[in-house]
Amino acid sequence: MSTAIPPFHTSVVILGLVVTLLASFAPEAEAARSFFVFGDSLVDNGNNNYLATTARADAPPYGIDYPSHRATGRFSNGLNIPDLISQAIGSEPTLPYLSPALTRERLLIGANFASAGIGILNDTGIQFLNIIRISKQLEYFQQYQQRVSALIGPEQAQRLVNEALVLITLGGNDFVNNYYLVPFSARSRQFALPDYVVYLISEYRKILTRLYNLGARRVLVTGTGPLGCVPAELAMRSRNGECAVELQRAAALFNPQLVQMINGLNNEIGSDVFIAANAYKMNMDFITNPRAYGFVTSKVACCGQGPYNGIGLCTIASNLCPNRDMYAFWDPFHPSERANRIIVQHILSGTTKYMNPMNLSTIMELDSRT
Ligand SMILES: *[C@@H]1O[C@H](CO)[C@@H](O)[C@H](O)[C@H]1NC(C)=O
Ligand SMILES: *[C@@H]1O[C@H](CO)[C@@H](O)[C@H](O)[C@H]1NC(C)=O
Repeated sequence: MSTAIPPFHTSVVILGLVVTLLASFAPEAEAARSFFVFGDSLVDNGNNNYLATTARADAPPYGIDYPSHRATGRFSNGLNIPDLISQAIGSEPTLPYLSPALTRERLLIGANFASAGIGILNDTGIQFLNIIRISKQLEYFQQYQQRVSALIGPEQAQRLVNEALVLITLGGNDFVNNYYLVPFSARSRQFALPDYVVYLISEYRKILTRLYNLGARRVLVTGTGPLGCVPAELAMRSRNGECAVELQRAAALFNPQLVQMINGLNNEIGSDVFIAANAYKMNMDFITNPRAYGFVTSKVACCGQGPYNGIGLCTIASNLCPNRDMYAFWDPFHPSERANRIIVQHILSGTTKYMNPMNLSTIMELDSRT
């Protein structure tokens, strides 16, 4: 028995080591800021798994390259954009707000409120039935703050939210799953495209203002990607593999007005609370020149069926590419983990062409000083 107990001096050395390790890890763990995520399938970490909806990614081959190799509800073969941002800020991945595992200290990591299928407008994604619309995501954020407040007190909770990083990704579905969902959609009969974009931006402004009023002080706002270039649109709307013109026009109208709106909000607030991420350019780089980024194609999805593997859903019965790293698109709408890594690299250290007014490295540098 006594042979299992190390001699006295050894345990002192071990204890000393543990203390040193704790001392070196503790400040880092403390420094990792909380992270909150709002938006659609590009950033959903699995909330829809808990809902009666058809917009879900909880079956193989989704998650095939995720650390657990399980489908988690992320619309990716592996990690998604929020996961990679969490890594970059030295934090654990955010849990879906609806996950029963999101309790106690885990609340302090932050939370992911995103829900696949939603948009800026309440009528976007109605075909998916039960999804968490953005106003509900913001209500949950408020509820979250009450829970954290009960855990660490109202002042600390307020501080946690003020010092947090926030990501919001909205807008793509307001075109793909609303205006252009069917010919002669209600919204397309109500609005000409330029007027629809103006309406979307005015509604988005209210959402961002509400986020600010709920305490958010550093918010990454992604514009839409090149909507007409995703395999689904190539399959449905393109004759020769060129990006679908109407959806490209939508993105070209929406993105600059989003930046303008964000600049206006920041001016009004008197601080760079909102940071515009140019998702259009981040995606377009590798879509126009896939080989330069190590992709064999940017037109064909890794998982899917029909032309460009762009028809229907990615399921166990779909075509599946052997090496996901060689495809820019994982499924008909969503980038592969490798593409997500390229995108997050730009978010972290891109020039002002990608990140306006500054990139995430600069934000972290600035915020660590205050
Ligand atoms: C969307 O729905 C929420 C909750 O029902 C409501 O508060 C909000 O005003 C609606 N937005 C619009 C633009 O109708
Ligand atoms: C972005 O980040 C890098 C550091 O990773 C920095 O050198 C660069 O100047 C930044 N660019 C802008 C425009 O903020």
